[in-house]
Amino acid sequence: MADELCCRIPKKVQICLAVGLLVAVAVLAVVGVLKWLQPHKWNGPGTTEHFAAIVLGRCSNYTQTAPLAPRNVDCQKIQETFKNAFISKNPCNITEEDYQPLMKLTTQTIPCNKTLFWSRAKQVAHQYTQLHQDMFTLEDTLLGYLADGLMWCGDAGTSEVDHQSCPDWKKDCPNNPVSVFWKIASQRFAEAACGVVHVILNGTISKTFDENSTFGSVEVIHLRPERVQALHAWVIYNVEVPSDPCMASSINKLKSIVTQRNIAFRCQHRPATYINHVTNPERSACSSMI
Ligand SMILES: *[C@@H]1O[C@H](CO)[C@@H](O)[C@H](O)[C@H]1NC(C)=O
Ligand SMILES: *[C@@H]1O[C@H](CO)[C@@H](O)[C@H](O)[C@H]1NC(C)=O
Ligand SMILES: *[C@@H]1O[C@H](CO)[C@@H](O)[C@H](O)[C@H]1NC(C)=O
Ligand SMILES: *[C@@H]1O[C@H](CO)[C@@H](O)[C@H](O)[C@H]1NC(C)=O
Ligand SMILES: *[C@@H]1O[C@H](CO)[C@@H](O)[C@H](O)[C@H]1NC(C)=O
Repeated sequence: MADELCCRIPKKVQICLAVGLLVAVAVLAVVGVLKWLQPHKWNGPGTTEHFAAIVLGRCSNYTQTAPLAPRNVDCQKIQETFKNAFISKNPCNITEEDYQPLMKLTTQTIPCNKTLFWSRAKQVAHQYTQLHQDMFTLEDTLLGYLADGLMWCGDAGTSEVDHQSCPDWKKDCPNNPVSVFWKIASQRFAEAACGVVHVILNGTISKTFDENSTFGSVEVIHLRPERVQALHAWVIYNVEVPSDPCMASSINKLKSIVTQRNIAFRCQHRPATYINHVTNPERSACSSMI
């Protein structure tokens, strides 16, 4: 009797264990499927794979090859400081202060007359600075070079980057790590500009000058009239245009914003092929030619 009892109990325990195991596996499977089906937290793409390694690699490449590279740069420290600006933080609540340590580490001087802004014409602007290595867009400075084309964000609850998704400026929140970074970097780039500064604008779109672009909402208003004597716009078009793109109403708007700030303004239009060649659009300019 006692023997039977002690043999039956383990059997019950065995059955219980088996059932328990089955339930556990089923629950895990359901949780896994739910997690897989669950939409990503944010609407934007997640942190670029190998973000830290890319930043580090770009930093050492830049400091070794770029013409205006700052000296005595500690790339490991820059990479860590960059990460610390957003890691373990709510990615909708990033502030300028978060990036101040990184800004301090990447201070760089661009000579007067050598600053080139662009709006909706990134590729052409970069082709231009590749050919004219004495001209600099933000992405030709150390700070812009490190971050160009990358995505990054973290989360308050973890010290990991989020590879799944990051906040989208419009759909999620404006104060996300990437948007705040480019806003501060652009502002700093504009404040440091001096002499005659240039901007490449896209003449094939209706808002050739867009007040809501980074150029229109950050850079133009942070040019310092005591440092900047003139803004020269190059309006680029890919196909023949029926009328002078410099006469467009959005260019007039730009002109009035700039001249009201006591900065002279000039506009010239050029086919994209002019910019891609080694000619200086300034020297070969002929604004009334179409
Ligand atoms: C390193 O810098 C040079 C010059 O700016 C650039 O052409 C090259 O693509 C860079 N290489 C990498 C791996 O980023
Ligand atoms: C946003 O950040 C600031 C400063 O870091 C903090 O005081 C505030 O509580 C944060 N707000 C939210 C909603 O996380
Ligand atoms: C910048 O360009 C203006 C106009 O071409 C010229 O007068 C000035 O000397 C230039 N400044 C420097 C530092 O080259
Ligand atoms: C101007 O914008 C159009 C539409 O976005 C684009 O296809 C074109 O490449 C841009 N032109 C230049 C010079 O970047
Ligand atoms: C800029 O954006 C705001 C809000 O999104 C909009 O109301 C305004 O019309 C835009 N301005 C221009 C010039 O597109």
